[in-house]
Amino acid sequence: EGSAPHIFVVLGASGDLAKKKIYPTLWWLFRDRLVPENTMFVGYARSGLTVAELREKCQQYMKVKEGEQERYEQFWGVNHYVRGSYDTRRDFELLDQEMQKVGTARANRIFYLALPPSVFDVVTSNLKACCMASQGWSRVIIEKPFGKDSESSAKLSNHLASLFKEEELYRIDHYLGKEMVQNLMTLRFGNRIFGPTWNRDNIASVFISFKEPFGTQGRGGYFDEFGIIRDVMQNHLLQILCLVAMEKPCSTAADDIRDEKVKVLKSMQTLTLDDVVLGQYAGDPEGTTEDARLGYLDDPTVPAGSTTPTYCLAVATINNERWDGVPFILRCGKALNERKAEVRIQYRDVPGDIFHGQSKRNELVIRVQPGEAIYSKVMTKTPGMSFALEETELDLTYSQRYKGSKLPDAYERLILDVFCGSQMHFVRSDELAEAWRIFTPLLHEIEAKKPTPIPYKYGSRGPEEADAKLAASNFKYYGSYKWTQPSHL
Ligand code: BG6
Repeated sequence: EGSAPHIFVVLGASGDLAKKKIYPTLWWLFRDRLVPENTMFVGYARSGLTVAELREKCQQYMKVKEGEQERYEQFWGVNHYVRGSYDTRRDFELLDQEMQKVGTARANRIFYLALPPSVFDVVTSNLKACCMASQGWSRVIIEKPFGKDSESSAKLSNHLASLFKEEELYRIDHYLGKEMVQNLMTLRFGNRIFGPTWNRDNIASVFISFKEPFGTQGRGGYFDEFGIIRDVMQNHLLQILCLVAMEKPCSTAADDIRDEKVKVLKSMQTLTLDDVVLGQYAGDPEGTTEDARLGYLDDPTVPAGSTTPTYCLAVATINNERWDGVPFILRCGKALNERKAEVRIQYRDVPGDIFHGQSKRNELVIRVQPGEAIYSKVMTKTPGMSFALEETELDLTYSQRYKGSKLPDAYERLILDVFCGSQMHFVRSDELAEAWRIFTPLLHEIEAKKPTPIPYKYGSRGPEEADAKLAASNFKYYGSYKWTQPSHL
């Protein structure tokens, strides 16, 4: 496939996602010569733009470094732009004509829908009718939201399935493009040391956490309709859960992996209000930034009195032989004390204690971001004359161990995967349907009963009630251990 021509179409080229994320990613892939040699890019949107104007819009996000100028010019040299509306078939015929002009009939076509969900249906219908590659393959990339609940998501999936084969559909969950999320499979199935203890006999609880130190930042309008559960938990955290909990796939083929993920999801019960703690951030009057002083409800794009949660801790269970009785705690929140995403596998207490309760539980921590790391909390004898015990760590911090190596952005990996036809890190439709099955009853219950979320202060650790729920879910927090970055030792 190396020399086959490709055309990459960005639908919604004049929008936010395109300029902040998609064009920069395409440029970095082009710069590093990762996309095939003769790839053309075509932007499509309603505004009448020239390529020069599009370039101007993207400029501040492209991070062009010294010495890259010539390559950068080359990048824009292979860019084109077509103006058109989303619901007019004729405009898509013109898009097709432009693609025929810039490429050959052999060219493969990739369509990236950087569009609001309200036009997903009509745009995909028009693409199918007018824009499919005549000789090469065509692939379509879409991003969340994939509906709002089981019903709306099924409707979208059915619509897409009526137009495209599953192999042509690439549903992005960008957490699947992160280094440490991709590493979970290697860690589990490429080592003998973890596998045998990876079960209910040894693991007390699993804690998957996502924290962000900022609020909705003007995205309140979008966010309020979805809430943190749909924004982060039902997709990003659940995907991580699948990779932590699934059985070993028969091979690393995309469908073998996705088959195992679906099995985990099928073993999970639906969640209810009793399984969650919901929170909403309030402004911190003593906050040092303008943002910190404003609560969620102060965002002018959020409707007055909204009860949409910006924080959620949920305790899920997996009813299978490996995980029966092990709480899987999912926690995500906006406007918290730090930016951090991590997985904590907490082991059970050592049976038959001879150290008079000094021993603390082992934990295997996979830090997704920032500062990718895998470390294991272990007990050691205090060095020296003492025979006391203390907590320490076996630490694999990437910035230390892999000095200078570059970890590409999630979008770079995922878009490259689409060129290569690898669906390993994309969400299959049955997987998506199962994810919605688990969360839909809870989401509907929240929307029907509108429970008031517990207010928590901007920049705090979230509602205290969540700590109680954590403790009740067999996750012990000792407060005595602090991970130290190795370079600071
Ligand atoms: C997105 C959510 O999917 O993920 C955002 O819509 C969130 O609300 C973002 O901020 C987090 O992604 P990352 O890669 O910055 O951790």
